Amino acid sequence: MLVPATEMLKKAKAGHYAVGQFNINNLEWTKAILLTAQELNSPVILGVSEGAGKYMGGYDVVVGMVNGLIKDQNITVPVALHLDHGSYEHCYKCMEAGFSSVMFDGSHYPIDENVEKTKELVAAAHDKGISIEAEVGSIGGEEDGVVGMGECADPDECKQIADLGVDFLAAGIGNIHGKYPANWKGLSFETLDAVQQKTGEMPLVLHGGTGIPADMIKKAITLGVAKINVNTECQLSFAAATRKYIEAGKDLEGKGFDPRKLLAPGFEAIKATVKEKMELFGSVGKA
Ligand code: 13P
Repeated sequence: MLVPATEMLKKAKAGHYAVGQFNINNLEWTKAILLTAQELNSPVILGVSEGAGKYMGGYDVVVGMVNGLIKDQNITVPVALHLDHGSYEHCYKCMEAGFSSVMFDGSHYPIDENVEKTKELVAAAHDKGISIEAEVGSIGGEEDGVVGMGECADPDECKQIADLGVDFLAAGIGNIHGKYPANWKGLSFETLDAVQQKTGEMPLVLHGGTGIPADMIKKAITLGVAKINVNTECQLSFAAATRKYIEAGKDLEGKGFDPRKLLAPGFEAIKATVKEKMELFGSVGKA
């Protein structure tokens, strides 16, 4: 059964570890992540961006696939199905479709509008027992070939949004989506510390988990980060393993073209990446 992410993240913050949000793209991703969480007895959050939701055929498809896997694969660890960087409209669509958690990314709105919309969505989500994440200070990343450096959130604005009753909060601390550029300055622990001082018990979310060095991840957890989002890293490991299979000519041997064989190395590679992250985040055995 899907659960909201509230309890697992409260426990993580109190226990000084973080739960991974791994973004899903299809059946292989979802099955690999769920099986790894179960093997390691770890809670897990499945992230779905609006684009990935559309790619998989729609939110009803996603909910059906995830619920079906939980049942048929006997997944008993806590699993949250979470809309990643949702717009106002898509938060409602996902709540309707059966997601157990949503993120409203109002970081591009002026703060007053972000507050207004977040407030309304918090009430709507909580009415249905769904958890909700909000964002302050946009997270950089590559868009049309231009790599934007991550913004640092204003700790007072974080407090303002946290006080609206959101369950967990993403604050920009110089993190970006995708690979980090060579001249990246690293995470701003000064900002994270200030945000945590203002928001107290609120579990904080670190986006852009791909490529952040292990020591920075560990330090971020000591400063209140309880949820870490990873997307690109699973894509890179899947692509590398698939490339290796094809380059070795395995798809040309016997029935090596069968998708169940062709996609197997990528599936195993996602499992290995998720395992490595769960061990680093400290969520193993915490289900
Ligand atoms: P990466 O793709 O950099 O791992 O970021 C994932 C993310 O933050 C999803 O919201």
